[in-house]
Amino acid sequence: MPAFSFPKEALIGTAALGAVAVAGFLAGRRCSRLHFGTPKTSPFEKNGPLQQYVLNHSLREHPVLKKLRLMTSKYHNGFMMVSCDEAQLLANLAKLIRAKKAIEVGVFTGYNTLNMALVLPEDGRVVACDVNEEYASIGRPLWKEAGVEHKIDLRIKPAIETLDELLANDEAETFDFAFIDADKESYDDYYEKCLRLIRKGGIIAIDNVLWGGRVLKPASNDIAQKMHQLNEKIFHDPRVVVSMIGMWDGLTLAFKL
Ligand SMILES: C[S@@+](CC[C@H](N)C(=O)[O-])C[C@H]1O[C@@H](n2cnc3c(N)ncnc32)[C@H](O)[C@@H]1O
Ligand SMILES: *[C@@H]1O[C@H](CO)[C@@H](O)[C@H](O)[C@H]1NC(C)=O
Repeated sequence: MPAFSFPKEALIGTAALGAVAVAGFLAGRRCSRLHFGTPKTSPFEKNGPLQQYVLNHSLREHPVLKKLRLMTSKYHNGFMMVSCDEAQLLANLAKLIRAKKAIEVGVFTGYNTLNMALVLPEDGRVVACDVNEEYASIGRPLWKEAGVEHKIDLRIKPAIETLDELLANDEAETFDFAFIDADKESYDDYYEKCLRLIRKGGIIAIDNVLWGGRVLKPASNDIAQKMHQLNEKIFHDPRVVVSMIGMWDGLTLAFKL
């Protein structure tokens, strides 16, 4: 199965980027490859052989997705890319609920945008929000190569504006799935707007909810504090049921009731 076998490069873009992740974290960006909080007795060492075993026995990555992942990992901001196993979980959930319309808040080179587009039906649509056209231009040729470019509606402007436009356009309760993975300062706003945009039974996935472990000891007014407050809010939010998954930098799944 050449499409799904990945000797060394499998961990590129998922695990082999620990050092850059620290740089990314310090820059206030993605920090999904930091080691933290894993008890020394746990057999599940992040980036270790057991993580490789998990990928070896679960990742069924579309060849064009793999190509995009390897391409993105060589790029200087490659650490911002979502992890392939996490993306696969999102795609599986989207497939399970027969998602037709999805929102991506924070596209980067479009790994997860492509990942979602691949599981949506022919008339499905991903509204892909980012402020940076340069990042998207790296992925776009591969969206085309995978034959799903027509399902991707890229909107280059602050995501809040795009979400407001969708609401103003009467698209509340018409989306099935949202993935929030952009500037952390606006996470609460993204959550509220996405909650209005998705239907009952729809899913909001939120990345980096553990913020490198710093949610345990947030300082006042920092991003960890905001993230912690959002985690508290969602935990008590009667509009959703929730699962928080300790995968990479923490993934919350909120299922709209
Ligand atoms: C962690 S990356 C997204 C990774 C992506 N989900 C993937 O599949 O690899 C965060 C992205 O959010 C974008 N971003 C930052 N501020 C934004 C804003 N206000 N509105 C929309 N996108 C924003 C950045 O340009 C960056 O591409
Ligand atoms: C994962 O698969 C690769 C390629 O087949 C292999 O070289 C490696 O030993 C495997 N690792 C584990 C832990 O299964």
